[in-house]
Amino acid sequence: MAIKLETEKLSAWFGKKQVLKDVSLAFEEKKVTALVGPSGCGKSTFIRCLNRMHELNPDGRVEGKVLLDGENIYGMDPMDVRRKIGMVFQKPNPFPNMSISDNTVAGIRLSGEKSKADLEEVVERALKSVGLYEEVKDDLKRSGTSLSGGQQQRLCIARALAMEPEVILMDEPTSALDPASTSRIEELIRKLRSEITVIIITHNVGQAARISDMTAFLYLGELIEYGDTKEFFESPKSPITERYITGRFG
Ligand SMILES: Nc1ncnc2c1ncn2[C@@H]1O[C@H](COP(=O)(O)OP(=O)(O)O)[C@@H](O)[C@H]1O
Ligand SMILES: [Mg+2]
Repeated sequence: MAIKLETEKLSAWFGKKQVLKDVSLAFEEKKVTALVGPSGCGKSTFIRCLNRMHELNPDGRVEGKVLLDGENIYGMDPMDVRRKIGMVFQKPNPFPNMSISDNTVAGIRLSGEKSKADLEEVVERALKSVGLYEEVKDDLKRSGTSLSGGQQQRLCIARALAMEPEVILMDEPTSALDPASTSRIEELIRKLRSEITVIIITHNVGQAARISDMTAFLYLGELIEYGDTKEFFESPKSPITERYITGRFG
């Protein structure tokens, strides 16, 4: 198995408050890894360190390394890092006053390399890959925010995929969605596996069990357990993990 992304003793702070402590974790290429843990344990901060977003917070500080194909992203151009390691957020956030097609290619358009015909092709391909194309193809000029919540989130995933990232980070991408939209997105994530490396935060352990190959459990800023999802849920090694997955704490 190949390692795509790896943290080495990653620590993070907000001002004086340390919220991640020496997290070392290797993510396998073209697999889905779920990050689970109670609210406030540092999951969002952790993935924001993986594409250099944590440092955008004026109080944010990071120590340790994050290796992408063996190269420390903290020695790379942050914009380049964020192009290679895309992100999807909890709340669908299509750009307002922008059409479905313009939303889809908003990121690539900034790089200015593609012709109009190329962009149209990217729109179609990206929307097809998230199963949205058939639903919206007759009116691609409609505003992105006029879509339903689940469609908006698929649009945001399409926008991230259009950049052809090597890794995609998702921070509780279904927590604002209804059950039907949630299962469509779970299906989509399972389909992305084998094409791209996916790292997804979820506070829903059932979701982690359904969609991931590997599961990591963070608690109070520390990595408690990491392993094959099936083993993680069937025979957790740590008593804290066991308490968490049996729902005995928040
Ligand atoms: N912008 C911020 N400023 C200060 N502290 C923050 C900020 N965002 C999160 N924190 C704190 O950092 C810790 C980890 O938060 P977070 O990474 O959001 O956890 P999770 O995603 O697991 O719920 C929490 O104690 C939280 O209160
Ligand atoms: Mg969070």
